[in-house]
Amino acid sequence: MPGRILIGPQWGDEGKGKITDILADKMDVIVRYQGGNNAGHTVVNGDRELKLHLIPAGVFYPEIVPVIGDGVVVDPKVLIDELDGLAAQGIPIDRLRISANAHMIMPYHRVLDQASEAHLGKAKIGTTRKGVGPAYIDKAARLGIRAQDLLDMKIFRTKVEQALALKNEILVKIYDLPAIDADEIVREHESYAARLAPHIIDTSLYINQMLDAGKEVLFEGAQGTLLDLDHGTYPFVTSSSPVAGGACAGSGVGPLRIDEVTGIVKAYITRVGSGPFPTEQTNEFGEHMCEVGCEYGTTTGRQRRCGWLDIPILRYAVRVNGLSDMVLTKLDVLTGIDKIKLCTGYRYNDEVYRDFPPNQTIFHKCEPIYEEHPGWSEDISAAKTMDELPAAARDYVARIEELAGLTFSMVSVGQKRDQTIFK
Ligand code: GDP
Ligand code: IMO
Ligand code: MG
Repeated sequence: MPGRILIGPQWGDEGKGKITDILADKMDVIVRYQGGNNAGHTVVNGDRELKLHLIPAGVFYPEIVPVIGDGVVVDPKVLIDELDGLAAQGIPIDRLRISANAHMIMPYHRVLDQASEAHLGKAKIGTTRKGVGPAYIDKAARLGIRAQDLLDMKIFRTKVEQALALKNEILVKIYDLPAIDADEIVREHESYAARLAPHIIDTSLYINQMLDAGKEVLFEGAQGTLLDLDHGTYPFVTSSSPVAGGACAGSGVGPLRIDEVTGIVKAYITRVGSGPFPTEQTNEFGEHMCEVGCEYGTTTGRQRRCGWLDIPILRYAVRVNGLSDMVLTKLDVLTGIDKIKLCTGYRYNDEVYRDFPPNQTIFHKCEPIYEEHPGWSEDISAAKTMDELPAAARDYVARIEELAGLTFSMVSVGQKRDQTIFK
């Protein structure tokens, strides 16, 4: 009963989409368990490039069943647009399953996301403004609208009216914005209901039946460990649980059904939005990573902040997620940098921290402690084995493994599927 979780150990955009696509080859079912269309996963297959936001990567394989689990928040319009976009590219995915329990991002969630960011001013989180946070707020407040409510438009209307009674007060009185009309929302969602109803099922039952039948199930995390609501750099986080534990809660599967947890580690680190980032490089190195690594957001187009790989963060992610193995991505992006730095700890008030600090003041104000590694200038993007890498690149990879206490099962050296070394 092999269940495998794939997570981001950093602040997202580690290359989870590419690795999900590679692993999909051996999978039967791929499940998204949290987040919404704040995620952006780019998958390159030959000359084709797919940008996915809600539908799990792996859809290039016609036999894979993609599942949107209970813990995801679904913007129905975005989902339908994504389905249409894929169908137009010859990838129809009628087999998509959506959990009846998944909450929906409603039009007022998008408005509230934007209004709350504007209200915060300089203290803003830097969200993707897709309404993800406000949808999770309503889920916790028990005011949410779920996918199953689309199956009974009378209930849908009642719930929308209940929610709007409060939301409109906030929109009008606090944010000085126009009220939202329930009739309009109901009308709009009638067409979404007709379209999505055939996909809405009990996905926990389905996934568990697949596991019982010996099928391979991959749980694809979105975002990353440091964006986790509990374990990330709060409040500069997303509002869900991208950590491995979130996969069970977000898909209705027990922890004993999982036998592998893989962390997708980028060879440096990026972050989108506000919040502390000790190894950030606002200099030629950061520019190199950004330009060579094309570090612009898949969802918002924002330039990603770039910095050196941070070992305390990686060790934290190994622990919090209980990783069983790791995959290294974007090693090729470091080609051409003369001296590569690796952060092995932090210094704050004369104290040295080798582990992720226990409070955010330290993480915010600390100074990274670096060790320096010789770089390489050879093009590594066609390497098929570790032996084909320059010694300096091999040493860098081995040092990360040593410090993290875990090995890489793959090393990725380019966007394409075949630009991958299987160790
Ligand atoms: P995700 O959110 O974790 O799925 O990552 P994104 O798709 O948002 O960002 C990763 C980007 O890097 C995508 O454009 C990938 O195609 C690309 N990518 C993935 N692996 C590699 C690699 O090894 N080398 C290079 N140069 N690009 C990669
Ligand atoms: P993938 O799956 C990188 C960041 C936003 C912001 C914070 C909160 O592609 O790795 P939200 O809209 O979620 O309320 O924003 O989280 N963020 C991501 N950063 N990759 C992502 O997803 C992200 N999803 C959200 O930039 O800082
Ligand atoms: Mg991304």
